[in-house]
Amino acid sequence: MNHMRIAMIGTGYVGLVSGACFADFGHQVTCVDKDADKIAALNAGQIPIFEPDLDRLVEANVRSGQLRFTTLLADAVSHADVVFIAVGTPSRRGDGHADISFVYAAAREIAAALRGFTLVVTKSTVPVGTADEIERLIRETNPGADFSVGSNPEFLREGAAIYDFKHPDRIVIGTENERARSLLADVYRPLSLNLGPLMFTTRRTAELIKYAANAFLATKITFINEIADLAEKVGADIQDVAHGIGMDKRIGSKFLHAGPGFGGSCFPKDTRALLKTALDHDSPMRIVEAVLTVNENRKRAMARKVGAMLDNNVHGKKIGVLGLTFKPDTDDMREAPSIALITGLLDQGAIVQAYDPAGMEQARKELPDITYCRDPYACARGVDVLVIVTEWAEFRALDLHRIRREMARPAIVDLRNIYRPSEMLALGFRYEGVGRPMPRKARERAALETLCN
Ligand code: UGA
Repeated sequence: MNHMRIAMIGTGYVGLVSGACFADFGHQVTCVDKDADKIAALNAGQIPIFEPDLDRLVEANVRSGQLRFTTLLADAVSHADVVFIAVGTPSRRGDGHADISFVYAAAREIAAALRGFTLVVTKSTVPVGTADEIERLIRETNPGADFSVGSNPEFLREGAAIYDFKHPDRIVIGTENERARSLLADVYRPLSLNLGPLMFTTRRTAELIKYAANAFLATKITFINEIADLAEKVGADIQDVAHGIGMDKRIGSKFLHAGPGFGGSCFPKDTRALLKTALDHDSPMRIVEAVLTVNENRKRAMARKVGAMLDNNVHGKKIGVLGLTFKPDTDDMREAPSIALITGLLDQGAIVQAYDPAGMEQARKELPDITYCRDPYACARGVDVLVIVTEWAEFRALDLHRIRREMARPAIVDLRNIYRPSEMLALGFRYEGVGRPMPRKARERAALETLCN
């Protein structure tokens, strides 16, 4: 294998994980970030994000000399065969377009530092046409530079980032340049030896693949969420519906878990940006538009679902929330459904206390007006209803007798369907999942109780 010298610009989620994994493949990787504190922390072995096993991977590769961190972009770029741009592309305030100013700023700096043939590759999620613009910018800034620009979008998930990076369903490489193709094939050689399928296409196609993939997954989730609402109304079980349709290989079983709506740093931002691109090209995307609206409304609607458990009498009630992050195994609170849910409950006068295994520090910034608890049991103490918002593994194995004893009233709203309705009812809880009927006997008992009251 040819060992590549790689510069990774940006040490966010994608940059740090990709950089560490490339180093682990045996390449020589230099990760660059403008944030001197972050680089100092990384050099001292501190990982700024919560991602399982990332600390060990970084530490091992720093120790072996394959991976280093610096603020000196020019130095890293001038020695690199391949430069990856992995800086953030957040939603632009006000209009929802992807803000690619950080990408262009990086491209200009890279341009000035290029020495010898260098391949510049976007790994950040960038709107169609960005690679073309980067090429233009580099040529404008440094007309003598010998370079090519490619697109290589990343499909890893937070919380499973290293596994995803090392076991990709596909590696998409967008370039029309033969030399660039063979360089990137070398970069990914360890994965293609493991049969990681490399797909070569044009830059614009690669850029669109990334947005189409995220929009499709967001659509799948939103679809099953709406079917779950209907299942609730008609007395069907969404878990079985998802299983029943997922067994059809054309549909597939993944990403059919009904819940409180998708959040995170990617789906909301990328669907919004795709819509903007579509509008700019006079090619409206009604489905994606609906997905965004339905999902936003859903997050807040979860507060009404909790309210219904309290007979719509939320004012002054004490509510416990288990799980704040947008998904388990991350401390990321970006666009987490918990934020709209809790804000909705606070607006109705509830008193909220919460527990999350990793996200409480981040959550404090978004949700300053709630009480943060030491553990799930403290979170259940004295509450009128307990709401499970994120499916952390530790919530799947709670001592439910103890939880019940802690609560003022035994009522659980399980927005991730991690428990079985029949078991929860047998334990004496009033229980409500998403899109799942209560067993008939319990329904009748509940109806009777309502009548007697
Ligand atoms: C997502 C994609 O899955 C990655 O392939 C992609 O690389 C990444 O965005 C990105 O563009 O950077 P991520 O945001 O880390 O990854 O998280 P997911 O596991 O996809 O979950 C996103 C949201 O959908 C979460 O709020 C999750 O709870 C929700 N979800 C997911 C469901 O409600 N139901 C499901 O069946 C699956």
